[in-house]
Amino acid sequence: MKLIIATIKPFKLEEVREALTAIGVRGMMVSEIKGFGSQSGHTEIYRGAEYAVNFVPKVKLEIVVPDSMAEQVVGTIASTAKTDKIGDGKIFTLDVEAAMRVRTGEMNDDAL
Ligand SMILES: Nc1ncnc2c1ncn2[C@@H]1O[C@H](COP(=O)(O)OP(=O)(O)OP(=O)(O)O)[C@@H](O)[C@H]1O
Ligand SMILES: [Mg+2]
Repeated sequence: MKLIIATIKPFKLEEVREALTAIGVRGMMVSEIKGFGSQSGHTEIYRGAEYAVNFVPKVKLEIVVPDSMAEQVVGTIASTAKTDKIGDGKIFTLDVEAAMRVRTGEMNDDAL
């Protein structure tokens, strides 16, 4: 299994969620975060306003999927979240050792 951690622009959340649901993603964690990337200390446009601050609001997605789906999930997030402006986000892919569905004790792919 892979854990895909993606930061996206907050207004893209619903569109990205719909696109991921459409390719078979069945669960994800969503957090409102702040962060910075390569413009750190400089400005980024957010909702039409220039953020003259170090931290810009983002939404973080954490999605665990079978290995076979990881590439498609990354591609779907990238194509849906892309606006071609700075701050479109980052996507990281990590290996996951184990997953358990607490209610049933099912493990790994069956737990997703
Ligand atoms: N090296 C990193 N480690 C962890 N999170 C990061 C890292 N770089 C960026 N981020 C996260 O991604 C967000 C920045 O995304 P952003 O799209 O601005 O990246 P960027 O590399 O600056 O690209 P761009 O040039 O398009 O702005 C940050 O708010 C932070 O949440
Ligand atoms: Mg940036």
